[in-house]
Amino acid sequence: MFVFYDKIYIEEIDSTNSYLKSLNASDRTLLYTFNQTKGRGRKNREWLNFKDKNLALSVLFVPQYPVENFLWHIAVFSLSLIDILKEEGVENGWIKWPNDVFIDDKKIAGVLAESVWNNGVMEKLIVGIGININSDRNDLSGIDKKATSLYFETNKTFALNGFAERYIEKLERYFDLFFSDKGKSEIRKRWIDNNKLLGKKAEWIICDKKYIGTVVDIDSDGYLALDDGVETRKVISGDIFLI
Ligand code: BTN
Repeated sequence: MFVFYDKIYIEEIDSTNSYLKSLNASDRTLLYTFNQTKGRGRKNREWLNFKDKNLALSVLFVPQYPVENFLWHIAVFSLSLIDILKEEGVENGWIKWPNDVFIDDKKIAGVLAESVWNNGVMEKLIVGIGININSDRNDLSGIDKKATSLYFETNKTFALNGFAERYIEKLERYFDLFFSDKGKSEIRKRWIDNNKLLGKKAEWIICDKKYIGTVVDIDSDGYLALDDGVETRKVISGDIFLI
């Protein structure tokens, strides 16, 4: 059974990802807080903090195996939340490849994966998620993009400790599945099932060039496959916009 060797709760920290990056901790160390004061998003964006309302949680992996890409780890983090949303009766949650969890057109969580390399070898992989739990309308209106929270979707306030324990348990189950024989194909199946992009027209930008095409697959490497009418292109990272 996959378990996190260390589960550390910290009352306040600038960024759970940054802290784990700087720490000489062992593989499968998990760190979480309800008060992250300088959360970071992708592309140097800021991840806003609402003290004692939301969860910021990161895991450090010290890979004993070659990590081809982080996409699977990101998917595991997102799927674990999708499960909880369903248990809470929120059926319209979906994963916006590669790393956002949405409810309809509003974002409820984001995942940030970062790595540390030495001589071409990945020494550390840090994956962190920020989940909006008890943020209210007022908090959410301070975010520059459409956002939501569990409270907003269910009208229920969540005990943060209980939520964190529940999420950690889901993560352990999903990582257990991921590291099993058929792990990737199982994760891929669920990822596709909870992905609203498939079959939709989307726009994406690579090296300042804009492409338009139809999302046709999440392939066996975890990449997004888009058909632009001429060929099927692999998108390995970046932002996809539905049009
Ligand atoms: C994004 O939407 O761009 C990703 C947001 C990731 C936020 C989480 S919160 C826990 C971890 N620590 C950070 O500083 N960022 C990630």
